[in-house]
Amino acid sequence: MATAGKVIKCRAAVAWEPNKPVVMEEIEVAPPQANEVRIKIVASGVCHTDLYHLFEGKHKDGFPTVLGHEGGGIVESVGPGVTEFQPGDKVIPLFISQCRECRFCKHPKSNHCEQGWASTSPDVMSEMDTRFTCKGQKILQFMGTSTFSEYTVINQMAVAKIDPAAPLEKVCLLGCGVCTGYGAAVNTAQVEPGSTCAVFGLGAVGLAAVMGCKAAGAKRIIAVDINPDKFEKGKVFGATDFVNPKDHSKPVSEVLHEMTNGGVDFSLECVGNVAVMRSALESCVKGWGVSVLVGWTDMADFSARPIQLIAGRTWKGSLFGGFKSKDGVPEMVKAYLAKKVKLDEFITHNMTLDQVNDAIELMKHGQCIRTILSISPQ
Ligand code: APR
Ligand code: ZN
Repeated sequence: MATAGKVIKCRAAVAWEPNKPVVMEEIEVAPPQANEVRIKIVASGVCHTDLYHLFEGKHKDGFPTVLGHEGGGIVESVGPGVTEFQPGDKVIPLFISQCRECRFCKHPKSNHCEQGWASTSPDVMSEMDTRFTCKGQKILQFMGTSTFSEYTVINQMAVAKIDPAAPLEKVCLLGCGVCTGYGAAVNTAQVEPGSTCAVFGLGAVGLAAVMGCKAAGAKRIIAVDINPDKFEKGKVFGATDFVNPKDHSKPVSEVLHEMTNGGVDFSLECVGNVAVMRSALESCVKGWGVSVLVGWTDMADFSARPIQLIAGRTWKGSLFGGFKSKDGVPEMVKAYLAKKVKLDEFITHNMTLDQVNDAIELMKHGQCIRTILSISPQ
């Protein structure tokens, strides 16, 4: 490639400060250093977590940054020591790494790799590690990835090589929301055939959880959302029953207990709200019910009565659906190509990178499931 080893000037959506529209800017992307790959981003989903950082997160020092962490692209060049990737490879950036060497990577039960950017900072790469500058200023890389940019640079332990036949404008969704929800059902909850499940929140994450419950053989999947516009999509992914908490004067957990003769076998919270987390736990049957926290928040504590757990319920959490990222993402891409996993049905809008603020507004107002931004031509 003519660009290898050189600084690339390209367009990116820079979030200069919280609670403000992002701004299209020309940025400089440095060449990849040891063990890094530079990637031309082709497409990116807009995920709730991008909005969380922009509007809700407490890490106000996480700016300026380039948001976006649900992308797909093509390797442009590789740094010294990279043997696994070549220019032209189709890849998905990963917001959690898989170094394959740390004790978490070696442990079969965890995907919390210790070596990636996230082990030192919760949301943005350190200034030292970012490869972006704009107007002489360092620009942080959000979740170690930054996919609202024509080019980005990522350590190879946080990049998954995928089947070259995969359409990047679809499989980019496997970089966050879909793996998160699907894996929470299949890997973390370990939903069983014939079981009854409840999924709270029908954004992309919750719909993917519904899809995971169905894939695991659940007999009944109760979808809970305060926005009834989401129920039609819920049906597409396999939900069998629908509950709008606003239609009931009693707590939604009581409604679910009545519907299921004492509570569901598995519940998944896909909202990121501590009150909903409690409802999801309380909706489980005593004795064996399992509730999984999938929605993201670091802003508030949750509470529950200890008796709920003493009575035999299990409360768990799930990050990226429990998938070891480098192993799991290519497998999910294969499952999509084999038509075992749906992706197209999540996409409600297609836009260009220049329209990113419109896409953010749609998500903010619950008017989309996923918008796919086309970033660079393939
Ligand atoms: N009860 C039930 N559903 C609710 C409630 C509630 N109290 N409050 C909101 N919801 C629904 C919304 O109507 C919406 O359909 O939850 C859904 C959330 O979906 P999105 O905003 O589209 O978010 P999504 O991208 O699916 O992510 C969900 O997972 O990764 C995290 O940060 C992410 O916390 C977020 C969560
Ligand atoms: Zn590791």
